[in-house]
Amino acid sequence: MKKLQRAVADKLHEWLEGIAAEEILKLMEIPSDASKGDLSLPCFKLSKMLRKAPQEIAAQLADAINGSMDPQSGIAHAESLSGYLNIYLDSKVITPGVLRDILDSGEGYGSHQEGNGKTIVVDFSSPNVAKPFHVGHLRSTVIGGALVRIFKFMGYECIGINHLGDWGTQFGKLVVAYRQWGDPGRLEQGAIDELLRLYVRFHEEAERRPELEDEARAVFARMEQGDSEMLEQWKWFVELSLSEFNRIYELMGTSFDSITGESFYNDKMGRVITELQDRGLLEEDQGAMLVRLDDYNMSPALMLKQDGSSLYHTRDIAAALYRKDTYQFHKAVYVTDYSQSLHFRQWFKVVELMGYPWADQLVHVPFGRVSLEGTGFSTRKGNIVKLEDLLRQTIAKVHEIIEEKNPSLECKDEVARQVGVGAVIFNDLSANRIKDIVFNWEQALSFEGETGPYVQYTYARICSLLRKGRKVSEVFSGSSNLIEELHLPEPEEYALVKQLSLFPQSVESAAAKMEPSIISRYLVDTAQAFNRFYHHCPVMDAERKLRDSRLLLTEGVRITLYNGLKLIGLQAPERM
Ligand code: ARG
Repeated sequence: MKKLQRAVADKLHEWLEGIAAEEILKLMEIPSDASKGDLSLPCFKLSKMLRKAPQEIAAQLADAINGSMDPQSGIAHAESLSGYLNIYLDSKVITPGVLRDILDSGEGYGSHQEGNGKTIVVDFSSPNVAKPFHVGHLRSTVIGGALVRIFKFMGYECIGINHLGDWGTQFGKLVVAYRQWGDPGRLEQGAIDELLRLYVRFHEEAERRPELEDEARAVFARMEQGDSEMLEQWKWFVELSLSEFNRIYELMGTSFDSITGESFYNDKMGRVITELQDRGLLEEDQGAMLVRLDDYNMSPALMLKQDGSSLYHTRDIAAALYRKDTYQFHKAVYVTDYSQSLHFRQWFKVVELMGYPWADQLVHVPFGRVSLEGTGFSTRKGNIVKLEDLLRQTIAKVHEIIEEKNPSLECKDEVARQVGVGAVIFNDLSANRIKDIVFNWEQALSFEGETGPYVQYTYARICSLLRKGRKVSEVFSGSSNLIEELHLPEPEEYALVKQLSLFPQSVESAAAKMEPSIISRYLVDTAQAFNRFYHHCPVMDAERKLRDSRLLLTEGVRITLYNGLKLIGLQAPERM
């Protein structure tokens, strides 16, 4: 579609003196109502530039197009309507072009060269050691993981980093608490539960015995200085937590190019402090060191505590300097919920004040909160969601549905995992990322709603249709040149072809806006367009040429859905 839009823009440029084709391309829209044409050019902005009424411009262009018909151009005819130029394309030219493109590109359909030679670093998931992996980390894992795949598809070198929260004074507290009340057996059984219990106990006891706080601070200071005994203990906590996180990553099929937690930057903090001092940015305040940001309407960024230990800001800056040196990134992206927006604005500003011109390549990608409705899980204090339980129960529910709908299915466990996890992922991408969303089992698991299972189920039905098709049709043999003479006369077919042609654009815009939900929306629209087609147009019972044309179209849908599902992190089960 993009190619065609460009060709049409070039053509219009011939008639619109002084307006660049690029400009026309930017103005061009794809009407959501097919009766308003396949492409539409609103002439209101042009009106100012050309000093002519929009209606007049649209009418003149329509006349010009209709008067100079070139059958190769792909344009069927044009109409002017209330200041819009509506262009109707010729489905006989469009359809073979689109399908050829999809079938030739296969798993590359929708990919792009835009990012070639550039690197993007995506910091995502990043749960905290010794604390539960919560729904916010899940959403970061889903959105960040999708961004990594989308950027790679756009041609970028992309590095996904898990910036584990594995450093900070809380680890001093844990070491102290473990020494006094720890229980190795309980720790082996459920590390995060036990560490959480110790953490809570520490705070209770410290109310009565404030000297515990001093002790904890001293322990963390020893850790920062590299005390091996303390570090040994800490390392064990990290490993136990990480093995719990890994179970979730495994279920979800998430991987990272690098797992470098905050502790990795412990020996890289000195540089930050020295540079801040050299620039005269660091100020002392009651023993602590901070950078004032009053001029930018922000509270100060705290860099060192009274006891000299580093903070979240300092570690983020050290990590950014290290990543710039290591990866020479074109962009560094941070995926967290919006409650951390100030934190990122603050330290991005500090990096700018430090004189790094690439500060504007640092991007925070915030997202809204997730609440759990009707699941029996709650995020409220004291009743923390066990995310792994949520995932496993979702999978179990899908298992029940399969047992009921398709009891003879092979590999039920694997399909249930793919669909259960898919439902959770898709739900996280069901709206623009900044919106707060709700997770509700009934909604997320509906095979008819705008859900992951709906798209996956459509995909499985397509695969089943194609299996039947392959048995009787030669169309996939490679020797067929049916594509040159496709017979697809119905409006549902043309609507589906146009929908397929929009995939590359939706990937591009998902990458540009860092908004993977554009792809999940696209997948639902495509599955719906396919189901409308399939409802109106018999495939296997149609006469041969029609049947084969429809099979090719169906294969185009399969490839497109497959590519889209993969980008957002969903598996595409061939049977379910
Ligand atoms: N560990 C943090 C949290 O759970 C998220 C870290 C995000 N990444 C970063 N570079 N600050 O809130």
